[in-house]
Amino acid sequence: MDKHAMIQIEQITKVFQMGENEVRALDGVTFSIEKGEMIAIMGPSGSGKSTLMSIVGCLDVPSEGSYLLDGQAVENMNDSQLADVRNRKIGFVFQQFNLLARTSALENVMLPLSYTNLGGRASREKAMHALEVVGLKDRVRHHPSELSGGQQQRVAIARALVNDPAILIADEPTGALDSKTGAEIMDLFQTLHRDIGQTVIMVTHDAFIARHAQRVIRLADGRIVSDTINSTPLKAGARRPDAEL
Ligand SMILES: Nc1ncnc2c1ncn2[C@@H]1O[C@H](COP(=O)(O)OP(=O)(O)O)[C@@H](O)[C@H]1O
Ligand SMILES: [Mg+2]
Repeated sequence: MDKHAMIQIEQITKVFQMGENEVRALDGVTFSIEKGEMIAIMGPSGSGKSTLMSIVGCLDVPSEGSYLLDGQAVENMNDSQLADVRNRKIGFVFQQFNLLARTSALENVMLPLSYTNLGGRASREKAMHALEVVGLKDRVRHHPSELSGGQQQRVAIARALVNDPAILIADEPTGALDSKTGAEIMDLFQTLHRDIGQTVIMVTHDAFIARHAQRVIRLADGRIVSDTINSTPLKAGARRPDAEL
């Protein structure tokens, strides 16, 4: 078996046409990510973070450049091919949780499995297991409105994990949470990274949150301005310095 990076991105650009104007959201971005890495993507608003996550997550394709995901070229795929790769390989977590309000935690987590050929009973067991991993075994019947923000984000993380994704992508996952709850969510990502070797890519503009990652990539104006290894990532349970509260 040849060994390849989980993500290999070469010279990607993304240009949006806005009437007469071109917006160059990404401008020659190159990096690779190995299986099991936990990475924070930082950068000011408008620097291209979400655009990059859409491409990494196979929601969109680059205007130019190449992207190998787990050895497979995805840069020229059509929408249905992208959807297929996305369902098999990617789990998404968003700032606003994006849960269905009228269904239970369990049904929310089972939803991605309805696109697979897994039977009802196996789906249920898988979803129960994912909820257990995120510490919500005793909340499976609750609806989102009956859960705290942190618990809702845990449900969203369970939903992202239920397909055993190659990559977990989180765009500002702690942005809607208070700092204590945000730190608990970071602890959960670290546990997934450490205990099950989950590859995690998260976007954040919070330096304390980013310090939990092993590696930090910074964007500005659609380009990578730094890509650094953090040799002493903060450990689970680390407290935010009071000065930053
Ligand atoms: N669908 C789109 N159409 C046009 N412009 C876009 C679109 N998505 C993003 N942009 C532009 O691309 C740039 C990068 O946006 P984005 O990736 O959302 O940045 P960030 O997530 O870092 O705030 C911005 O100038 C934004 O206005
Ligand atoms: Mg964004």
